[in-house]
Amino acid sequence: MSVREGEQTIDETRQGESFAPITGESSGESRKLYLESYGCAMNFSDSEIVVSILSDAGFVTTQDADEADLVLINTCSIRDNAEKRIRNRLQHLKRQKRLKPALKIGILGCMAERLRDQLLEEEQLVDMVVGPDAYRDLPRLFEEVSTGQKAVNTLLSREETYAEIEPVRLDKNGVTSFVSIMRGCDNMCTFCVVPFTRGRERSRDPQSIVAECHTLFEKGYREVTLLGQNVDSYKWNLDNKGQVKDPAVPVVRFADLLILVAAVNPDLRVRFSTSHPKDMTDDVLLAMASHTNLCKYIHLPVQSGNSDVLKRMNRGYTREWYLDRVAAIRRIMPACAISTDVISGFCGETLAEHESTLSLMREVRYDMAFMFKYSERPRTLAERKFEDDVTDEEKGRRLQEVIDLQSSHARARITDQVGPIYKVLIEGTSRKSEDELFGRNTFNGVLVFARGQHQVGQYVFVRASSATGVTLHGEVVSEAIANEEGYVE
Ligand code: 5AD
Ligand code: SF4
Repeated sequence: MSVREGEQTIDETRQGESFAPITGESSGESRKLYLESYGCAMNFSDSEIVVSILSDAGFVTTQDADEADLVLINTCSIRDNAEKRIRNRLQHLKRQKRLKPALKIGILGCMAERLRDQLLEEEQLVDMVVGPDAYRDLPRLFEEVSTGQKAVNTLLSREETYAEIEPVRLDKNGVTSFVSIMRGCDNMCTFCVVPFTRGRERSRDPQSIVAECHTLFEKGYREVTLLGQNVDSYKWNLDNKGQVKDPAVPVVRFADLLILVAAVNPDLRVRFSTSHPKDMTDDVLLAMASHTNLCKYIHLPVQSGNSDVLKRMNRGYTREWYLDRVAAIRRIMPACAISTDVISGFCGETLAEHESTLSLMREVRYDMAFMFKYSERPRTLAERKFEDDVTDEEKGRRLQEVIDLQSSHARARITDQVGPIYKVLIEGTSRKSEDELFGRNTFNGVLVFARGQHQVGQYVFVRASSATGVTLHGEVVSEAIANEEGYVE
């Protein structure tokens, strides 16, 4: 399991790069779309919805921005430097627009929602600004900009989940896929811009989720990652007070949903992100423990190990509560990987408070972590209520301590995984050698092994014989040996 360092995208799962020109064939006279995605897994998942909607409207996708009629950038606002990166990218697009004045440029996602019309004024080359709940309107908005006007739709919705839209898969491996199960967030963590950019929390119809997973399995996918800002508060047919809405319709909570998706096929692995410590209940852990295809991996962002800081962050839990949830994971699933998010240098963070984050990390020993310097975001509660008073230099110093500690834990945790035989889902060719493949075990640990006759998308049994950095190396063994010696499912 890897260590993710510093000021990165909010990529909470595995999508390494934040740049994803979409694939697909271009042909004839159709209008051509080029799309880039930045930020979290949810944005990558949304981009698949966008392509689906625009394909129905006659667009074909291209990997070459130069030949596009429409360039869309799906943006991230989570930290200031995510936005800066996108602004830089827009500067580069100026050349394209100069060469092809008819080219239309659209901004989607969180920056679109946060800045709205302001974006059109600040970035003259932008023609279209479309928020995360307005993607169904894209074909109409494109017609509007085709006549030379500018177009904006940043309406947020309480209902939109794009439930019935079949996403056009943009992943590269054809084996693992994201499936969005809910949108928005009602939590109001004081540092976070997401409730403003993605609106109120709403859950997607469980039937459409299960149907999407069935379709994926039939197409050869063997792993889904269920996505939501706070998956533990997934609910269907319950109102916000927990009252049943329609007695004729079954109630589905997150644990129930996990069981429904696990039943799609025993050969379909299921992961999810992100869990919220205040809402993660034992029934979710019990469901995971009793289904081998529910992967033993939990992303449980702590943000800080100090209860006073957590209070200022409005996270809704204390250090003790968080550690109790970790204890519950370890009790119910003695072997389960845990990862986290940490913010260094939040408003008013003292040295002692920073030290308590380090001590919590030592107690939990995370397999992986995303670690960030606090970045003040406009309109958030923290911006209005607190002073951003830890200097940038000090934030950097504390972040480095967090990163160094996490690196040592990640290496130790991966070394702990050397020895057993693991059931591994093959995801692709190793970056280092064409003769080797890589895949993951249930703990999301990466294993590299000789290619042999094996194919991407197959399960193999791999004995982990050594670890370098955060990668395991091993040898494939037969199913008979795996059964005889035992293996980690
Ligand atoms: N500054 C730094 N990190 C942030 N995150 C969210 N908002 C901010 C911010 N203003 C981090 C949190 C969250 C992850 C997705 O991004 O750790 O869990
Ligand atoms: Fe942001 Fe908190 Fe919601 Fe996560 S749970 S998206 S950090 S407000």
